[in-house]
Amino acid sequence: MTDRYAVIGNPILHSKSPLIHTQFAIQTGQDLSYEAVLAPLKGFRDTVQTLRGEGYRGLNVTVPFKFEAFQLATQLTKRAQSAQAVNTLKFDDGGIMGDNTDGVGLVTDIERNLGFILQGKRVLLMGAGGAAYGVVSPLLDAGSILIVANRTEDKAHLLAAAFNARGSIRGSSYEALAGLQFDCVINATSSSLAGSLPPLPQHENVGDTGIFAPDALAYDMMYGQETPFLRFAREQGAARLADGIGMLVEQAAESFFLWRNVRPDTASVISRLRLT
Ligand code: ATR
Repeated sequence: MTDRYAVIGNPILHSKSPLIHTQFAIQTGQDLSYEAVLAPLKGFRDTVQTLRGEGYRGLNVTVPFKFEAFQLATQLTKRAQSAQAVNTLKFDDGGIMGDNTDGVGLVTDIERNLGFILQGKRVLLMGAGGAAYGVVSPLLDAGSILIVANRTEDKAHLLAAAFNARGSIRGSSYEALAGLQFDCVINATSSSLAGSLPPLPQHENVGDTGIFAPDALAYDMMYGQETPFLRFAREQGAARLADGIGMLVEQAAESFFLWRNVRPDTASVISRLRLT
C-alpha cells in the first residue's frame, strides 16, 4: 500500500514541498504520496489527528504551526527540543515523534552546496523569532561565532542566553553592529515577506567598509525574487548571495530520511526548482 505524507500549514497553496518529496520518491523508488493540506488556524491539532487516523505516516509542518507541533509531539529529537519548534512529524505505534530539520537544512546548504565552511567564521543571524531559534544550534555546532541581532533587542539577548552553553553567541541591537564585519550574514527575519529590510548599518562612501567582510556570504532564508536584503547585500559588495531554496530542499531531504531511511539526491531537485 502507498504510504501517505503531507505538508500542513496555513496558507499552504504555494508550498513547494509536494513537488520536492514527489521528486525524492521517484528518484529513490519509494512508494509514497505527498500532498499539501490546509489546516484551519484554530484546527491544527484536530487536522493532525484526523490525518493520523486515516493512516498517514508523517507530516511536514509549516507556518504558523511549528510551535503547536512541538507541543503535540509525544517524543522530541534533541534538535527539536533546542529549536522549541517542530517541522517534521512521524507517526508510529509508539506515538508522534517530532523533529526539526530546518537548522541542519541550512547548515548543509551553506557548507555542502555552497562550499562555505562555518568553523571559526563570524556569523550574523538577523531575527530572534521562530525561524532564528530553529537554526541556532546547528550553526553553533558547526563552530560559527554567532551574533544575533534583532529589532526588539531584548529578544536577541534572550535567544543568546538560551544557547550560551552551546557555543559562542551573543545578542545585539542593529545599531551596535556599526563598525563590525561578518563572513556570513543570514536573514532569519520575516522582513522580506513585507518587502522591507532589517536596519543594518551600511557604508556610504567608497573606501568605507560595511558589515560584509571580503568574500562574505549573504544568505536569505526566504526565496523567490531577489529579496530586499539580497539586493542590499549585492549593493554593499557582498561576494556571495544565496536564497533559501537550497535550505528548503535540504530540510526536506532530512525529513525524507527520517521517514524512509533513504537519502535522496538534493542537487538535481534544487536545480529543477530554480527553473520553475
Ligand atoms: P518567524 O517564525 O518567521 O521567525 P516571528 O516569530 O514572528 O516569525 O519572528 C519574526 C522576526 O522577524 C522577529 O525577529 C522580528 O523582529 P521583532 O522581534 O523585533 O518583531 C523580525 N522582523 C520582522 N520584520 C522586520 C523588519 N522589517 N526589520 C527587522 N526585523 C524584522
